[in-house]
Amino acid sequence: MEKINAVITGISACVPDYILTNDEISTMVDTNDEWITTRVGIKERRILKGENKGVSELGSPAVAELLRKTNTRAEEIDALIFATSTPDHIFPSTASIVAEANGIKNAFCFDMEAACSGFIFGLEVCNGLILSGRYKKVILLAGDKMSAITNYSDRNTCPLFGDAVGAVLIEPSSEDVGIIDTILHTDGVGYEPLQMKAGGSKFPATHETVEKKEHTVRQDGKTVFKYAVKNMADVSVEIMQKNNLSKDDVDWFVPHQANMRIIDAAIDRTGLSRDKVMINIEKYGNTSAGTIPLCLWEWEPKLKKGDNIILTAFGAGFTWGAVYLKWAYDGTSK
Ligand code: UT7
Repeated sequence: MEKINAVITGISACVPDYILTNDEISTMVDTNDEWITTRVGIKERRILKGENKGVSELGSPAVAELLRKTNTRAEEIDALIFATSTPDHIFPSTASIVAEANGIKNAFCFDMEAACSGFIFGLEVCNGLILSGRYKKVILLAGDKMSAITNYSDRNTCPLFGDAVGAVLIEPSSEDVGIIDTILHTDGVGYEPLQMKAGGSKFPATHETVEKKEHTVRQDGKTVFKYAVKNMADVSVEIMQKNNLSKDDVDWFVPHQANMRIIDAAIDRTGLSRDKVMINIEKYGNTSAGTIPLCLWEWEPKLKKGDNIILTAFGAGFTWGAVYLKWAYDGTSK
């Protein structure tokens, strides 16, 4: 039987227009541009402003652009998966909302949640759908409206997050490109240090949960930092070794954008040169599941067919992992 690979054949993203700067954050909480820049590496982040706007406001245009760019008709899509921790509603799925907005009627659609690792976990799910032979065109969306779950009176967390969604089209190919390998992990030890406590079935919304701001992200930054540094660096080195990739063989390294110091640690461990690393944390902050597709989207014009790319992420759960893919097309062709 002919070997097939699951291949990213197009990418798009949507970021909101509003730019929230470090200076504006400094008017909300006791912080300053210097602290945020040196400790985290963020200068500004995008925020989806306006009443009653969920993450689908970013996801739907991203899919419209993806269909346009890849010359794909809505009715050709077989599946649409949205990796997000900030769905419009608990149900129905935001995937179904985005599909409806784009006239996608022949696909099965659902949301999945793996926090900041949503894109790489989602790639593995899409990989399985494509390799099964039953699905030919699958859309993976990943991203969050983090501003909806950020406490803007907590200086420990509010400078960190921004809003964005990326989308990729994934199709089968018999060429030697696409998703080559994945290493993914989950360790429930992450339950306490990083969570949004209320709003699920264990702690449904009450006056008290709202007053205590339990519908926003709470994190023990130091603990999360230690796990993120170790696990992202370890898994990146592991996937390179497993696939016999030296630092010279890797064309691009795409780390989750949570903290510049975490990214630096991963660069040091892998030995990769900095000009091969996609970094845009200063412009967008941590958009959770959105960071990796947002980087790929921005760098798309520089990507070449056959480029070896390592993606790596770490997030709540804890969840983490790495994906090795060979890029499938010259970015300038799109
Ligand atoms: O994407 C999902 C995974 N998440 C992550 O990977 C995030 C991992 N964690 C981090 O990136 C970092 O831990 C943070 C950026 C969250 C915090 O940086 P840190 O260097 O670990 O700071 P810290 O929490 O240890 O705080 C150091 C000091 C404290 O003051 P004292 O107690 O030493 O006097 C904080 O109160 O910095 C203070 N601080 C701030 N100062 C000014 C904390 N936040 C701020 C702030 N502005 N915004």
